[in-house]
Amino acid sequence: MNILLLGSGGRESAFAWKIAQSPLCDALYIAPGNAGTGNFGTNVNLDVNDFHGIRHFVLDKAVNFVIVGPEEPLVKGIYDYFQADEQLRDIPVIGPSQAGAQLEGSKNFSKAFMRRHFIPTAASASFTRNSLNDGLAYLETHKLPVVLKADGLAAGKGVLICQTTEEAQAELISMLDGKFGDASSTVVIEEFLDGIELSVFVLTDGHSYKILPEAKDYKRIGEGDTGLNTGGMGSISPVPFADEIFMQKVEKDIIKPTIGGLKIDQIHYKGFIFIGLMNINGEPFVIEYNVRMGDPETESVIPRIESDFLDLLLGVANQNLAEKELVISSRTAATVMLVSSGYPGTYIKGKVISGLDNIRESYIFHAGTISEGSLIKTSGGRVLAVTALGETMFDAVQQAVADAGRIYYDGRYFITDIGFDLL
Ligand code: AMP
Ligand code: GLY
Repeated sequence: MNILLLGSGGRESAFAWKIAQSPLCDALYIAPGNAGTGNFGTNVNLDVNDFHGIRHFVLDKAVNFVIVGPEEPLVKGIYDYFQADEQLRDIPVIGPSQAGAQLEGSKNFSKAFMRRHFIPTAASASFTRNSLNDGLAYLETHKLPVVLKADGLAAGKGVLICQTTEEAQAELISMLDGKFGDASSTVVIEEFLDGIELSVFVLTDGHSYKILPEAKDYKRIGEGDTGLNTGGMGSISPVPFADEIFMQKVEKDIIKPTIGGLKIDQIHYKGFIFIGLMNINGEPFVIEYNVRMGDPETESVIPRIESDFLDLLLGVANQNLAEKELVISSRTAATVMLVSSGYPGTYIKGKVISGLDNIRESYIFHAGTISEGSLIKTSGGRVLAVTALGETMFDAVQQAVADAGRIYYDGRYFITDIGFDLL
């Protein structure tokens, strides 16, 4: 197969690494990719949202399989774009239709979906400018803390946890006034869930599904879960508290009604479902759906998949996923993310990275990197993911941290306590 993979982060690097190992892969193109994805295929200078450019490239290179990494092209309808084009219609796109992508693209939609299909989640109500006064009144009697969410995509910044009613009311006004642009023209006000989070990943062909390894990501910039939120500083898989009993509840109460709900609602969905869950005293509640894999969770999840990942995706495209075997390693994967100085605020780029050749025991998945001649330089906030596998969580984390320390660039930063809250 000739494959086009859309995206440029650590998630796509892990996908590319795995897909390139498949005997089913003839050519792999990554658009736009990064300095690392170039080791597993050919980087293509194309924007993930440039559907016309993608169309031209796909036809030109006889691409017959498309895998979408990030959410934006899905929310913008890349699946439907292919379906509507006679020449592209038969080329599988791994990712949901625009209607399905609303599970991530609109929190209001996903809350209504969960209510409709009796999927456990935080109680909530949605408000717009026209119902601002109702929203302010709703907050008057809401228990604290209270969670305010921009309805639309807000680059991971659209969730506010407010400790006082006054703060929440002021934020509601500011959000409806365009704090996050159009994304916050509707605001979901939600109950605060007090528990421990994890990420569960499901691959579905619309009929059957496979549960991929679960993971936990570490979002804060500082050690001990402190400081500003980031795109993710590391991850661990498996998650010790996600034992058989817990995962059975997740499957019965959340995964089955989600897949069933999509069918009942006649929503085409062939792709990944990332379920952000809160474990509250052993009971799972959905915090959010994403319609893609998580980053940096993917960098821990993919190395634990022993089966041919491309063959699984082929099963999604051909709707015979049920016939495919998913073999998962029992080892623990730990991912440490190396970031740029200043991240998640303004950060510096263009620093030369050294030491990559010294790494033997861990996998390196590039995120914000760029090649310049023979040099590899930083080009983003999150720069590299280092993933180690170990017999225990302790071994895996220790190895990943040691290898992260062997890579150097000016301003390099990472946290060393991935998984420590779970020990
Ligand atoms: P989201 O943008 O929906 O991923 O939310 C970002 C983060 O905010 C989540 O990963 C949680 O850590 C937190 N969060 C979102 N909703 C809630 C909630 N209802 N209760 C507690 N924390 C939440
Ligand atoms: N790690 C969380 C995300 O990808 O949204």
